[in-house]
Amino acid sequence: MQYYNSIIETIGNTPLVKLNKVTKGIKGTVLAKVEYFNPGNSVKDRIAIKMVEDAEKAGILKPGGTIIEGTSGNTGMGLALAAVAKGYKCIFTMADKQSKEKMDILRAVGAEIVVCPTNVVPEDPRSYYSVARKLNQDIPNSFYPNQYDNLSNTAAHYETTGPEIWGQTEGEITHYVSTVGTGGTMCGTAKYLKERKPDVFTLGIDTYGSVFKKYKETGIFDQNEIYPYLTEGFGEDILPKNVDFDLIDQIIKVTDKDAAIMARRLSREEGLFVGWSCGSAVYGALEYAREHLKEDDVMVIILPDHGTRYLAKIYNDAWMKDHGFLESRDFATARDIIQTKNGSDRLLTIDKDIKVGDAVRMLTKEGISQIPVTDGENIVGSLIDSKLLSQLIENPDIKEHPVSEVMGQAFKFVALDSTLDVLSSLIDKENKALLIRDEHNRVHIITQADLLMAMTG
Ligand SMILES: Cc1ncc(COP(=O)(O)O)c(C=O)c1O
Repeated sequence: MQYYNSIIETIGNTPLVKLNKVTKGIKGTVLAKVEYFNPGNSVKDRIAIKMVEDAEKAGILKPGGTIIEGTSGNTGMGLALAAVAKGYKCIFTMADKQSKEKMDILRAVGAEIVVCPTNVVPEDPRSYYSVARKLNQDIPNSFYPNQYDNLSNTAAHYETTGPEIWGQTEGEITHYVSTVGTGGTMCGTAKYLKERKPDVFTLGIDTYGSVFKKYKETGIFDQNEIYPYLTEGFGEDILPKNVDFDLIDQIIKVTDKDAAIMARRLSREEGLFVGWSCGSAVYGALEYAREHLKEDDVMVIILPDHGTRYLAKIYNDAWMKDHGFLESRDFATARDIIQTKNGSDRLLTIDKDIKVGDAVRMLTKEGISQIPVTDGENIVGSLIDSKLLSQLIENPDIKEHPVSEVMGQAFKFVALDSTLDVLSSLIDKENKALLIRDEHNRVHIITQADLLMAMTG
């Protein structure tokens, strides 16, 4: 029989998945360590069980005890699972900016939640750090793991995440990327990897509103860097003991918006339905990779959690628009792009029986690079000038053949309300243009050039 003795034995050994689409144009291999495969759907299961078991060994946590923690949700889930499996109670303090889903999920696994204000300094007695500490003092036989300063956090990653990545890449890893919150994921893993291979480059991802990047670069803890941001789970207004800046070679900051859009792209283009900070990690990693990664390099990016926790936020189009994350100037959707093109937009098409030579002359005369091919009323294919050129070089005789013999796939039809990010994720080398049918059943074309115009105004 093959089974686990309890849910906590299923923690770790998460898969490494190659990123294929969002990495277009990047040299080297970019792999995501997908931590939502943990039973609590996040990387934090690893540290939760380690902190609990280390506390049991040290005699700090005794049978019937209560676990109290300030958490952005994921550590809470890991602790709650450990508590259920081992018979402890849980109380969690959370900042009110955290998503309702995260709170509901924790309640679902039996935890009590205390919601605290986000926009107060950590020393304020109302902050979720202070409230957790106070509850720990007041409740007998309680254990406050304090993931920020508890070094079992870093140790969990040194003992599990690091060796897993080393084994999975057979030591070929050259770049390691992680968001930095408590610092455990970044530094525990980096410590292990650098011990095995000192020149593994470690890239930390920070967010605007957090202190890490400036502190790393100048040694200054700058209060002016601190302001409320939306991304959840990383970036800090404190320096946790689990952050060892010597283990982080460089820090990049990523905006809430870039992170949200990248998380959505990971879901739609890679099938990785991930959380917001995963978008930050990948956006920052690719910014670095675009400039520095070489053909033989192997980059591993940690994706901390799952997308379900953000359904009401980054996966909700209305929320995205409210926050200005989907708009690009006045061109929010395919409808807007078509409207601005109105007048110049009569859809040019070419019949499938026209000769290739005549088609080329038409493309040149009209100054266009691609055109839908029709058979009567139906769109049956497409011509793209760059492809035609290589076909003509290979066989000049085809200029006398009908277009139907050389045409490519018909351009995809997309919805009138498709937003700019969706449109841009669908246009690539193979799909040079998209077709849209309006309310009057007229067909319009949107090309790469139209998207660029819409994005730059
Ligand atoms: C969603 C999410 N992303 C990133 C992190 C950062 O990881 P770490 O605390 O190990 O630095 C966390 C930690 O809470 C998280 O919950």
